[in-house]
Amino acid sequence: MSLPLPFVPMIKVLFVCLGNICRSPTAQGVFEKLIAEAGLDDHIYVDSAGTSSYHVGESPDPRAQRAARKRGIDLSRQRSRQVVPGDCREFDYILAMDRDNLRALRRTCPEARDRMHLFLDFAPHLGVRDVPDPYYGGSRGFEHVLDLIEEAGRGLLEHIKRHDLNGTDGG
Ligand code: 4NP
Repeated sequence: MSLPLPFVPMIKVLFVCLGNICRSPTAQGVFEKLIAEAGLDDHIYVDSAGTSSYHVGESPDPRAQRAARKRGIDLSRQRSRQVVPGDCREFDYILAMDRDNLRALRRTCPEARDRMHLFLDFAPHLGVRDVPDPYYGGSRGFEHVLDLIEEAGRGLLEHIKRHDLNGTDGG
């Protein structure tokens, strides 16, 4: 008689911004690092996408890459892609970087509303709901984006551990 295989849930997380070259690739990189540190690589899959097609196929913005690299995060292998309707079926958590992108997502995927959230709502103590678009600003904006994303990433990971992974610490 063979023993049943243990059930290993795979939770899928999609970060979404406008261009998928600044905020959502940064969120993907930060969250992948948090997951690796928690030993949860086998339980959580992460991706990112944009609501626009402006930068499809491009690498993350060099300023985003530079700021992330300073915190030990490599974004260089990511490439921008646009959200497709299939994402709405596939992902358990669809996390918009701001309210404009949440509205756009709701139009693309009305059936997935209950799986869509504002990312910063996982860090309510910050008192802000939108990750500001750093594209037209300077490098300080990218540092601020990283600070916000690191806080919300920690909150999201705790939420997923509690709600989806039975309080597991990996392993
Ligand atoms: P992201 O930033 O949405 O965080 O990737 C932007 C990137 C490009 C543009 C706007 C925002 N753009 O207008 O090209």
